[in-house]
Amino acid sequence: MDVKSFKVLRFVIAAVVAGCVGGLLLMKSYKPGSMPKFGEVKTVGIVLGSTREGRSSDKIGAYIEKILLERNGITVKMLDLRDFNLPFLHDAIASVNQKEITDHAVKKWAEAVEKIDAFIIVTPVYNASYPGVLKNALDLLYKEWNGKPVGFVAYSGGATGGANAIAHLRDVVKELQMIPVHAQVKIPYSWKAFDLQGKLLDPTTQKTVNTMIDQILNK
Ligand SMILES: Cc1cc2nc3c(=O)[nH]c(=O)nc-3n(C[C@H](O)[C@H](O)[C@H](O)COP(=O)(O)O)c2cc1C
Repeated sequence: MDVKSFKVLRFVIAAVVAGCVGGLLLMKSYKPGSMPKFGEVKTVGIVLGSTREGRSSDKIGAYIEKILLERNGITVKMLDLRDFNLPFLHDAIASVNQKEITDHAVKKWAEAVEKIDAFIIVTPVYNASYPGVLKNALDLLYKEWNGKPVGFVAYSGGATGGANAIAHLRDVVKELQMIPVHAQVKIPYSWKAFDLQGKLLDPTTQKTVNTMIDQILNK
């Protein structure tokens, strides 16, 4: 074999080995779970992703709760981050490797999340993403999120409806080995999207809420 052929062969072998190692690493970091069958999701948690005074997530979470309660046999738990007063992640051991949680507030959060079969995350858009308080609440746990379906309801003051918040969240929940459903609820101009009774005005978005719920229940 001449020197040129040898170099080409060496390059091809290195590329194949790098591809295999990369593939194995990817498989290790993300193992997609399988969707629970219809009837297996009994408790749905609504995570309110904003905590600021005067927030809209109360109103939007209440609307989603009302629609969910129209489904037979579903228990709804409101997971309001204000109630948990979570610290910023400060443990030396990352949540993914943590065997035991010692922080009282994080433990309470872990116990609440553990009991839930599927989630709907209600999130505003803050500076083209979702709020930091929500990222921290997600990062604090790991196994409690694993294998559970999740849907998103995003809203924005402007025209996007929080599409970018959902796009960012989808990447994050995949790392937590959750199962993000396909239907996404996006509510633009959230300040004028509801009537005085708290009902969503746009019929297409109302329909998407029900599609997203069907998908997390795997109906
Ligand atoms: C810190 C901050 C950043 C925001 N950034 C955006 C933005 O990038 N795009 C947008 O359309 N609206 C933005 N908004 C408007 C919010 O999406 C809107 O007011 C929403 O109702 C806020 O959610 P909350 O009331 O639950 O806190 C921002 C609001 C805040 C407080």
